[in-house]
Amino acid sequence: MKTMIKFLLLILVISPMSICAEKDMMINECHNADVPAICMQCLESDPNSIHADHIGIAGIVINCLESHLHIITNNITNLSSKKDKGEVKTALEICKKDLSTNASTILSEAKTSLKTGDYDKTNKSIKLALGFPLRCMFNLKRVKFTSPQLFSQINIYAQLSDAAMRIIDRF
Ligand SMILES: *[C@@H]1O[C@H](CO)[C@@H](O)[C@H](O)[C@H]1NC(C)=O
Ligand SMILES: *[C@@H]1O[C@H](CO)[C@@H](O)[C@H](O)[C@H]1NC(C)=O
Ligand SMILES: *[C@@H]1O[C@H](CO)[C@@H](O)[C@H](O)[C@H]1NC(C)=O
Ligand SMILES: *[C@@H]1O[C@H](CO)[C@@H](O)[C@H](O)[C@H]1NC(C)=O
Repeated sequence: MKTMIKFLLLILVISPMSICAEKDMMINECHNADVPAICMQCLESDPNSIHADHIGIAGIVINCLESHLHIITNNITNLSSKKDKGEVKTALEICKKDLSTNASTILSEAKTSLKTGDYDKTNKSIKLALGFPLRCMFNLKRVKFTSPQLFSQINIYAQLSDAAMRIIDRF
């Protein structure tokens, strides 16, 4: 019983220390990002960040990109369903197609090249994938469509892409 208590006390003392150390690692990985808070939020959302190395961290940020791409695509589907014919509907449908096929495929390629150690290709894929939501936002603005919610999701996606590329750049 006494050893048990000692053991528990030891865990109580050590774990906050190691959590601090892990947090330092995340801060370090994110500090080059334009918006470190968005990068940190992504890493904190995944418990695997705690034990991840450099490459693992990059993989986690790519996972966050994938889930944000999902949110953006669902938002666009939702927005499009409320529109009848017209240039806004057309632009939204093009966005939906580009994001759900091209951007999504390129992001999975980024994950594959990260696994095979081709970091140059990972970087290029992340950049290429980012072109799709950016072009989508540009085309929607061109037809005078605004959605602060959607555009802020796209901005978060862009910030996460920037963070991922900067982490990879430091490999
Ligand atoms: C966009 O997606 C988010 C998260 O799924 C949701 O909270 C929000 O209501 C959606 N907005 C639109 C316009 O679909
Ligand atoms: C669709 O958009 C509306 C209004 O913005 C939002 O309340 C709802 O949660 C959205 N649905 C989904 C599935 O994102
Ligand atoms: C998107 O993917 C399709 C099918 O792979 C391809 O034909 C098309 O050229 C791609 N579009 C862009 C803008 O890359
Ligand atoms: C990755 O992309 C960024 C942004 O385009 C660039 O600054 C950086 O040099 C690239 N790094 C590698 C290793 O390709």
